[in-house]
Amino acid sequence: MKKQEQQTWSQRFEKALHPTIAKFNASINFDIELIEHDINGSIAHAKMLAKTGIISADEGEKLVMGLEQIRQEDREGKFHLSLDAEDVHFAVEKRLTEITGDVGKRLHTARSRNDQVGTDTRLYLREQIEQIRILLRNFQSCLLELAESNIETLIPGYTHLQRAQPLSLAHHLLAYFHKAQRDWERLGDVYQRVNISPLGCGALAGTTFPIDRHYTAELLKFEKPYANSLDGVSDRDFAIEFLCGASIIMVHLSRLAEEIILWSSEEFRFVTLTDSCATGSSIMPQKKNPDVPELVRGKTGRVFGHLQGMLVVMKGLPLAYNKDLQEDKEGLFDTVKTVKSCLEAMTILLQEGLEFNSDRLTEAVLADFSNATDVADYLAARGVPFREAYNLVGKVVKTCISGGKLLKDLTLEEWQELHPMFEADIYEAIAPYQVVSARNSYGGTGFEQVKTEISLAKQKLLV
Ligand code: ARG
Repeated sequence: MKKQEQQTWSQRFEKALHPTIAKFNASINFDIELIEHDINGSIAHAKMLAKTGIISADEGEKLVMGLEQIRQEDREGKFHLSLDAEDVHFAVEKRLTEITGDVGKRLHTARSRNDQVGTDTRLYLREQIEQIRILLRNFQSCLLELAESNIETLIPGYTHLQRAQPLSLAHHLLAYFHKAQRDWERLGDVYQRVNISPLGCGALAGTTFPIDRHYTAELLKFEKPYANSLDGVSDRDFAIEFLCGASIIMVHLSRLAEEIILWSSEEFRFVTLTDSCATGSSIMPQKKNPDVPELVRGKTGRVFGHLQGMLVVMKGLPLAYNKDLQEDKEGLFDTVKTVKSCLEAMTILLQEGLEFNSDRLTEAVLADFSNATDVADYLAARGVPFREAYNLVGKVVKTCISGGKLLKDLTLEEWQELHPMFEADIYEAIAPYQVVSARNSYGGTGFEQVKTEISLAKQKLLV
């Protein structure tokens, strides 16, 4: 009898697992992360068993008290895993039986680890999504604040990483605000599909007991139970969707990181990194390195990897549960930790890690041909067909380059030789401030548009 008490599996098994195989099979090293959610899921299950009369009310209470005791032990660091605990579910159940005696053995009635692990993972992810959405909000507020104080700061805008047209720095920063807004909304969508309860799907086919799945779903604040037990235990779409949402967040953070890395280089000098967010070199005393954005850019790879990993785990799985599904957790946990830490670090970087060099930015937007479109627009607005104006300005740029001049250096006579429509106001039209200000089309970089954009962005943050 003693021997049977200790072993995990039914009496069908006569010999213990090979110790190396036991280790190989176990997930306790990482799924212990789910312990609070496992306890919550089990409490709901125990309450349901009592409510439906599958166990007595007294037994239900004992189970709940025992589970609460385990929660307390865990929080106080006193929950010691038995050596043979394969996963968090068994570890909790075994401890419950130590605490409550035979009553503990009733907890697993009408339940399987297959629906249990799915429940725990969803409870975990639901909580994490909420936290990540808060971090996204902090990141957005920070971008917004920085934008607000830089409406009239100009910065070169690029396409193909070639100078294109100057921008309001606020407009550039707000582009990331909007990307983060979609990330926030996207995770909200994912949440809806995470928020469905597989509890009570059993191993795959449901159960012979008169359980109440709607009741457990309600206790755990799930929107509803899965309508098909096979689907419920085999579905990991919600994890894939989350990993996808997380990957897109990383794409956005990584693009911003890359810009900051470029901006802080000697070649750009658009920003200086403050001491609180930059690091030195062990050999080159002059160096200040952008480690924070570099790490964010680098960590993006592992998150993409976890998405790919999960897709590949799922693609050939027959219904319903297969042990392959145990592989869903480490990538998920690592993704959550990575995304959270990157959002936190990038928020601090924006808050106190960057000083925009306004002199250098002003100089940068003056010293190029990024106002060339405005010359063509000048003529087009005065009746010259745009394509004709475009070709003419191309010729002017070429002449300027060979003469070592910028457009602003041409004399009025030179302008008028090129086209009689040019008048003295051409100089104002091509000054960077005016070039930006004039792009007042909806969603453009013109200062008036940017101000409207900022007030709309503020409203978004209130939701
Ligand atoms: N540790 C397992 C997992 O993470 C729990 C579910 C095990 N179910 C089973 N039938 N072996 O997936």
